[in-house]
Amino acid sequence: MNLDPQHTTLPTHAMGSDQSVLAVVVPTFNERDNVELLIGKLGVALRGISWEAVFVDDDSYDGTIYELHSLCRQYTNVRILHRIGRRGLSSAVIEGILSTTAPYVAVIDADLQHDETILPDMLRVLTDDRADIVVGSRYADGGGTADWDQRRLGMSRFATRLAHIVVGAELSDPMSGFFMLKRATFEAAMRNLSAQGYKILLDIIASSPAPPRIRELPYVFGERRHGESKLDTLVALEYGQLLLDKTVGRWVPVRFVMFAAVGGLGVIVHMAVLVLMLASGAAFFVGQTVATVAAITFNFFLNNMLTYRDRRLRGLIPVVIGLLSFFAVCALGAVANVGIANVLFERDYSWWLSAIAGIMVGVVWNFAATSVFTWGRR
Ligand code: GDD
Ligand code: MN
Repeated sequence: MNLDPQHTTLPTHAMGSDQSVLAVVVPTFNERDNVELLIGKLGVALRGISWEAVFVDDDSYDGTIYELHSLCRQYTNVRILHRIGRRGLSSAVIEGILSTTAPYVAVIDADLQHDETILPDMLRVLTDDRADIVVGSRYADGGGTADWDQRRLGMSRFATRLAHIVVGAELSDPMSGFFMLKRATFEAAMRNLSAQGYKILLDIIASSPAPPRIRELPYVFGERRHGESKLDTLVALEYGQLLLDKTVGRWVPVRFVMFAAVGGLGVIVHMAVLVLMLASGAAFFVGQTVATVAAITFNFFLNNMLTYRDRRLRGLIPVVIGLLSFFAVCALGAVANVGIANVLFERDYSWWLSAIAGIMVGVVWNFAATSVFTWGRR
């Protein structure tokens, strides 16, 4: 017993709690039927190693949380981080890693598609200091993807090639969600992370101040048995966002680029509607008004779906309020646009330079104001 008077007020079980060598971070969203199975498999695979599991759950609505609570009460080495009002695989993984002090951290999906039996080999590569990051790879020799259709294989290959070009990492499977790394490697990168989307491994590699030493271990990507995949086609877009952020993101926020691109599409919608209206005999004033309303509405919904996918407004009332605030902001933006352009034009700048300056001010205003009023966090 510790008789040091400074410590006697603390019960002994409150001291020196986290001694794990390996923390296994598991992001979960609606994985009720998988988590207990996973803990069982981890227990077998990691026998003899002191490990803990950190589940990071984004408020699953299928009862996963209760499953996790019961696991936490059953095993002292299982913890849960429950996030409310948040979504995102990358940020879940990051916060899970930040919540542990273990010197080695693994990330694995909850759905049993990753082969947990290679975890001890991964750990050995790190403890022998043969690498800073070990990646479970489907494409290294000996790896595989159970029953993937051609389309998904093709997409995955294409994304892999893109990653090569942008991040410059020599990896056969940079999309992998299954990897292990040294805590120090994570800490060196953690303040530069984009934390968006789901390509957390690429994010860590691209955010490291010095290129980490990477090794790959092959595994075969299994079939999902329970629940369903959360990665839909829009993740391709998020992937593009991550790559943009890692390239031009230093100079321009990616969200702004997306917002401006959506605005550009809005111009096309505007013109199309205007042409249709004029062709059907409407007066120009009416046509222009209808086209403006159509373009702004179109922009709102597209931004809500793409640019602000992570803060998407859902349900009739939030959407209507969002749309109204979007209209209000855009109206002010139009006033600022015309005002600035006019001032410049009167100071003898050319008409097109004045117009572009007006548009720029309008877009920047619309972006800044809608990020607060329309998609601001409540
Ligand atoms: N906390 C949290 N929040 N967890 C999430 C979220 C989220 O928003 N979205 C997905 N997850 C969890 C799932 O519950 C699962 O445990 C894991 O993240 C992977 O999600 P899946 O939906 O099963 O992804 P997948 O199987 O389609 O994709 C896997 O393979 C890709 C390679 O093609 C993942 O491992 C990807 O990371 C990987 O890139
Ligand atoms: Mn999966």
